[in-house]
Amino acid sequence: MNPVSLGKLVVEPPLLLSPLAGYTNLPFRRVIRELGGVGLCTTDLVNARSLLEKNRKALKLIETSAEDTPLAVQIFGSVPTEMIGAARMLEDLGVASVDVNMGCPVKKVVGVGGGSAMMTELDRTAALVRGMVEAVQIPITCKMRLGWDEANQTAPELALALEQTGVAAIMVHGRTRQQGFEGTVNLAGIRRVVEAVRTIPVFGNGDITSPHAAKVMLEATGCAGVSIGRGAFYNPWIFRHTREYLETGILPPEPSFAERLRVMNRHLDLMLEVFGEALGCVMFRKVGPWYAKRFGPASFFNKGIVRIATREDYVSLVEKYVTWRRQFVDEKDELLPRYAPAAMPLNFVDVGEPAAATRSTIPVPAGPNDLW
Ligand SMILES: Cc1cc2nc3c(=O)[nH]c(=O)nc-3n(C[C@H](O)[C@H](O)[C@H](O)COP(=O)(O)O)c2cc1C
Repeated sequence: MNPVSLGKLVVEPPLLLSPLAGYTNLPFRRVIRELGGVGLCTTDLVNARSLLEKNRKALKLIETSAEDTPLAVQIFGSVPTEMIGAARMLEDLGVASVDVNMGCPVKKVVGVGGGSAMMTELDRTAALVRGMVEAVQIPITCKMRLGWDEANQTAPELALALEQTGVAAIMVHGRTRQQGFEGTVNLAGIRRVVEAVRTIPVFGNGDITSPHAAKVMLEATGCAGVSIGRGAFYNPWIFRHTREYLETGILPPEPSFAERLRVMNRHLDLMLEVFGEALGCVMFRKVGPWYAKRFGPASFFNKGIVRIATREDYVSLVEKYVTWRRQFVDEKDELLPRYAPAAMPLNFVDVGEPAAATRSTIPVPAGPNDLW
């Protein structure tokens, strides 16, 4: 995999962790980094004004550590002075790049408000981003969808306008805003964005749940790299495996159950370190089930994890779960074939392979979808 330059920042390999509000906190980023293969991690989206006001919650969202580099912080807002001020503040804090959260640039979205407001006027948006680019030395990147709906796929036009303001890269989720998280990712749509810009890299995004899916997206779109979100929830090894697969053509074996437990335990410990035992345990109630998706039968674990309040509760649950799970394994501790989780299917259109109807395999947690 060739490294990709975001201005002066070299991203190697060009495999990115997408922003996932509620999840891409310091513990998760550290877990991903320890497993390797990720070139740049992004925080949850943060309100630019809240950052400037040094709001406690906003500062917690950008909490980082020496191991957590390079780090991109994603911000949103529509007031130029606030976006510029936040970018300067982040540069002073040593952040590697600033990503701008963008909704959709179609006129008819005007008046709907929310996260889309910024994108309703292409000129105004370009001016705002230009102000940010000129105010800092670190790269400014922009993350967008293909457009508002099937008929208004304006991302190529927007990407070109942003390139002219000096942004260092574009990340594009291959769905329209109207699609939400439904339907399939449109690789041809991503390709149009890649073809629209002249010199800056484009990172493709959406439904990459396996190294094979990453390869298909890279080849079908010509994008410089990919950004992975939900695929990393239940497979934090995806970056390392994708790098290995792209470099050698050999797909590394799935992590063993013992390795999954080791990483999940590490994730819990980092959560407790960063958020304290009480809050860390509550937050982990929604993290544990993602690991469990690849454990095989896990109803026992899933029932218990939503009640943990202390580290001791967690340790005792895992111990009991390991015993309970023995009924589903053979003498080598491997899941009996009928209990093994299914491989993750492709969910793309335009790749010469049938697009599987796989929505249920990539669940979307509840949250402020408007902004994504
Ligand atoms: C729970 C959740 C939170 C998200 N939060 C953000 C966010 O803060 N900023 C953003 O630009 N996109 C956000 N997204 C969108 C993802 O970054 C990504 O574009 C999308 O999930 C498609 O990629 P994936 O299929 O690899 O997850 C979020 C998605 C999910 C499911």
